[in-house]
Amino acid sequence: MTSSTASSTTAHRHWDEVWKSEEGRRDWSAVDPWVAGTVGLLRRRGVRDVLDLACGVGRHAVFLAGEGFDSWAVDASDTAVRETVAAAGRAGVRVEPSVGPMTRLPYEDASFDYVLAYNAIYHGDRDAVRATVREIHRVLRPGGLYQLTMLSRRNAGCGRGEEVSPGTFVQPGAADDKVHPHFYCDAAELVALNEPAQLLRAHDEEHASPGSYHWHCLFEAPGEAGGTG
Ligand SMILES: C[S@@+](CC[C@H](N)C(=O)[O-])C[C@H]1O[C@@H](n2cnc3c(N)ncnc32)[C@H](O)[C@@H]1O
Repeated sequence: MTSSTASSTTAHRHWDEVWKSEEGRRDWSAVDPWVAGTVGLLRRRGVRDVLDLACGVGRHAVFLAGEGFDSWAVDASDTAVRETVAAAGRAGVRVEPSVGPMTRLPYEDASFDYVLAYNAIYHGDRDAVRATVREIHRVLRPGGLYQLTMLSRRNAGCGRGEEVSPGTFVQPGAADDKVHPHFYCDAAELVALNEPAQLLRAHDEEHASPGSYHWHCLFEAPGEAGGTG
């Protein structure tokens, strides 16, 4: 797949190339401890069906399947999805794969108890983020949980390059995916963009490269888990 519904969401083209090499996949093969640390909560909440949105090469979809959840994975990159299927095969677990854009997820309403979107939904402008959050809310069951990383305004990339729309920057000369739009937000906007979901936890964490601040957040969809709305 080489295009998506929102024209600002083009970063999957970069990632499709990254995922073709073993070197490109290497940095994205270990499970993030923040994700692993949520498994206890998911069990306590009776979570069964989980979606890894913009799954990359499937590190978390495979992990969650290994933890006993029914695991789905979607990404706009064909190579990502192919590599996710291969990783699931190597691990001896089942992951249901799909190729598709995060702004129009290929699932029925209320399909999942939990959605993970790690370093995913900020690949675009604010409208794309809004569209993706709407899709997460649509595919989650009432009271479902979702866990996101978002680029923080403290991130060194915020303000670099051209601001193509509010909070959205493109760095034309960059050697990485920053040649594509990336959206940055502060805490107030993080909460506003996810309404009417409730923010349960958030912290602003520096990832491996200096200044690479990302919000790590956990939200709860409206409605009562196990209820009708
Ligand atoms: C930084 S990687 C993270 C991969 C994975 N979530 C992980 O943590 O290992 C970003 C992923 O988002 C995917 N992506 C970017 N834009 C997308 C879009 N519009 N729809 C679906 N996936 C997209 C890319 O193809 C890539 O696999």
